[in-house]
Amino acid sequence: MNREDFPMLQEGFVFFDNGATTLKPKCVVDAMKRYYEEHTSNIHRGDYDAAVKTNALYDGVRKIVSQFVNCDPNCVIYTSGATHSLNMVVFGYMRKHLKKGDEVLLNKAEHASNILPWIKLQEEIGIVLKYVPLDENYECSFESIEKCVTDKTKVISLAQVTNVIGDVRDVTRIGKFCREHHILFNVDGAQSVPHMKVDFENSDMDFLSFSGHKMCGPTGVGVLIGRRELLEEMEPLCYGGGMNAFFEEDNSYELKEIPVRFEAGTPPIAEVIGLGEAITYLMNIGMERIHEQEVSLKKYLLEKLKEFDDITVYNQNPNSGIVSLNLEGVFAQDFSIFLNHFHIAVRAGNHCAKLLKDEMDVKNTVRISMYFYNTFEDIDQFIDALRHRSEIFQIIL
Ligand code: ALA
Repeated sequence: MNREDFPMLQEGFVFFDNGATTLKPKCVVDAMKRYYEEHTSNIHRGDYDAAVKTNALYDGVRKIVSQFVNCDPNCVIYTSGATHSLNMVVFGYMRKHLKKGDEVLLNKAEHASNILPWIKLQEEIGIVLKYVPLDENYECSFESIEKCVTDKTKVISLAQVTNVIGDVRDVTRIGKFCREHHILFNVDGAQSVPHMKVDFENSDMDFLSFSGHKMCGPTGVGVLIGRRELLEEMEPLCYGGGMNAFFEEDNSYELKEIPVRFEAGTPPIAEVIGLGEAITYLMNIGMERIHEQEVSLKKYLLEKLKEFDDITVYNQNPNSGIVSLNLEGVFAQDFSIFLNHFHIAVRAGNHCAKLLKDEMDVKNTVRISMYFYNTFEDIDQFIDALRHRSEIFQIIL
């Protein structure tokens, strides 16, 4: 659906790398272009017309985000992306509030951005990282999480949808459990917020992170949402202009209110405006429709793949648009180069989920990650390419 909005979607080109980044609709690029061509100005500093317009657009995006994921607009912090947001949670909040011996529950299907900051914090203050076992489908169930909780568990940190397996975690149930047990619930929404309806308040999340570029928005911008009382206690990671109320020679200073306290320096203004446009665009399509389309595409692809007994699919559960697979005897990157020959863009490798190999017994996969603008014809093109797989080494060498 909506393919005409995407200039890159020319006849014959199949973009199956939406987990890495999505294509941008023309309206997003136009909104950014308008800012650059018609009202370039900084925010929160100027009193002239262009600056007033930019302020209104920039701050207005907080309201758009709040409607999109149901949260308080004053708790929407602009970041450079989900990685930055997750680092803010770990080093801005957790570093100050956790202590040696406190347990943090992770799992091995998580992206580096939701593991490495924790490893660093473990090195600094001696928290204990525990990995919740995945089931035989490499999914992380509520029951498995519940079994790992002890009276030392202080945080459960997980992706709502993982970037290799694409399983959808039951955040509403996990969030309720966390609230009842006074455990902080930190959600990486990088692969869920672009693809389905996410509800921050009603899922009892404490923090939610996501990126703009994985949801039709520009690169260089993302969002961190936090519960107000937690954000009030969070330390900024960056100090400078725009975030302070005053500072004096005697070293006294006062910071501004949240969320601007966390946005030192000139922020990515055009990108925030583009993000607002992207979210409005997605809301106009409807997140339920987007999710349904992706699930239908995955079901269709899984059905078609049954024809090939030398293809291993690692995630058969059709609840998102992600399919991770391998062609027997072929290195994942060679397979991806082969697909490029047929104008099909996929990602090959470990997808930054470097602990997943311990569970899956395979280090690299080819990942097909779909979005609402993909079609059944895209899948047919992929299947047609697979029929040439016996020629793979003639084609790529
Ligand atoms: N995190 C992105 C991915 O999964 C880059 O591909």
